[in-house]
Amino acid sequence: MSNRNEGNIFEYILEHVNIIDVISDYITVERSGKNAKALCPFHNEKTPSFIVSEEKQLFHCFGCGAAGNAISFITQYENLDSIDAVEFLADKYRIDISQFAKGAHQKNTSHYARYYDILRDAAIFYYKNLRLYPDALAYFEKRDIHIDVIKQFGLGFASDAWSDLLKAMANKYSKSDLEKVGLIIENKDKTNHYDRFRNRIMFPIINPKGKVIGFGGRVMDDALPKYLNSPETEVFNKSQTLYGLNLAKNHLQDKRQLIIAEGYMDVIALHTHGFTNAVATLGTALTTDHGRLMRRYADEIILCYDSDFAGQKATLRSLDVLQGIIEKIRIIVLGENMDPDDYLKKYGADKFKEKIDQAITATEYRLNHLMQAYNLNDDQEKIDFLSKAVVIIADLSNAFEKNLYIEKLSGLLDVSRELIAKEVFKENYNANTQYGFHAKSKKVESIPKITSDKKRYLEKQLVMYYIHKHDALTEDQKTLIQNFSYSDELQSIIDYVVSYYESHTEFSMQHIIENADLSISTRLIDIVQSHLSVLDEIDIELVMNNLQSISLDENIEYLMQQLQTSDQKQAIQQEIQKKRMEKQALQLQMRRNKFKN
Ligand code: CTP
Ligand code: MN
Repeated sequence: MSNRNEGNIFEYILEHVNIIDVISDYITVERSGKNAKALCPFHNEKTPSFIVSEEKQLFHCFGCGAAGNAISFITQYENLDSIDAVEFLADKYRIDISQFAKGAHQKNTSHYARYYDILRDAAIFYYKNLRLYPDALAYFEKRDIHIDVIKQFGLGFASDAWSDLLKAMANKYSKSDLEKVGLIIENKDKTNHYDRFRNRIMFPIINPKGKVIGFGGRVMDDALPKYLNSPETEVFNKSQTLYGLNLAKNHLQDKRQLIIAEGYMDVIALHTHGFTNAVATLGTALTTDHGRLMRRYADEIILCYDSDFAGQKATLRSLDVLQGIIEKIRIIVLGENMDPDDYLKKYGADKFKEKIDQAITATEYRLNHLMQAYNLNDDQEKIDFLSKAVVIIADLSNAFEKNLYIEKLSGLLDVSRELIAKEVFKENYNANTQYGFHAKSKKVESIPKITSDKKRYLEKQLVMYYIHKHDALTEDQKTLIQNFSYSDELQSIIDYVVSYYESHTEFSMQHIIENADLSISTRLIDIVQSHLSVLDEIDIELVMNNLQSISLDENIEYLMQQLQTSDQKQAIQQEIQKKRMEKQALQLQMRRNKFKN
């Protein structure tokens, strides 16, 4: 898919779907004047500020700022990247995008659709098997996995026979394809094939686009290996896959946080107990690819590995892998050699929720782990510990964080913080360094320096002034503002506002959201929000003079450029002269006004 002519395929899709259809498939959309409105699916709200324009094929939420076209709606709602969203829409609305496939030198992925069909059929086969094998159902029951959860995760059973799956699929698919997706294996003397998964309960692994890409299979007793997974195939790459992400991705709207566990059973138990943001790696170490995948969906990662020794090692390694990819990482420590599944069974969801709230930072985890190896009542061991701990702290990029842990260690070990700070900061140590933050001043839109930005800023100020002081303005002032010659972008907005006040006495954001053209309402609300601080009296005349002066400068500059190539140089010269004189007159007037006040 990455090897397609993306520019065209995007346009093609947008021409072939209607944004109202796309969005109404997810939320209730109600016609309202020119546009359609809905409760925004991307934030919590009670009155609709989510507007869809059929004419423009765009959506915009005035509450949270989410905005875009049909493709970006799908990227946000389904948490897909834009290329996946294009495929998703093509798939859903049966739009043929084969014409965008690229030439022969690129990877041919046309057979993937067949692989996905095979894997989906296999998942259905294993699922249906459950009816025939009560032992498998009993195993699920024993582990508190009820039928709704079985359905939700598509769990199943591979019978204790050599070729049940092969036989069931052979009339529909070739052995070669079944082998390529990892479901059957060829025997040593290459005379026959047999099922890879036998006598195991089956966990289909489903990607965020909803395609089955592989399986994990668990024995129901103590036989080894406990788990068997699909091999890496063209459609299954363990280091880029997270179990449960197909479900978790739909629960991240309110809080972009993912819980990372180690096992299939952990993910299922977590989802069952309401922690629907849980995913797991597939028996392999966490990779940077996993990290980048998570970052697409979440801003915070909570690691929740088994608390045994192997789990601790895996946690430390994962922290190293995620460093620089995910900024916010916290770790849950369960204790008692438990995994999340064990913990939930023993203590329940409320206690687990507390564990999430108490989850510690990567640095705390590293320090705690290090501390286990030392007896801090022994002075020598305390020194040894400290010399290693300062390395962990020195590694932090943020000075505030450094100071935070210096304070903590100082309290814990009863060592002066200056001493620890000296070790952490080394030659950069400064005894006068203040601990903590300087409060940042609140952001206020400042007057821009670039001319075109300045012009827009001043124009916006006029519009804003017109809206906010509408009652107080004199007729003369109104006329001045209404008749000023704005740049194209602002002209349509002031026109709208002027006509709005012809039939309204008060400015209503909600009315404008619902009735104005999307492009107008978007920009208007942007102006209203960004200029809230500029409500003081303004000298309209001065603002206008400034604007005129900028316009004249622009005119002159434009004419100078024309002069280079035009064959009517004399006429242009005269025009430039005229503008320069206008500007001089304007400046003179501005100076007089200044003294007048
Ligand atoms: N795993 C694997 N192959 C194995 C053992 C484990 O691929 N032979 C992977 C599986 O993805 C498994 C995860 O590592 O889910 C964690 O293993 P483990 O903690 O042993 O299993 P649990 O998920 O806790 O399963 P259970 O509770 O059923 O023992
Ligand atoms: Mn377990």
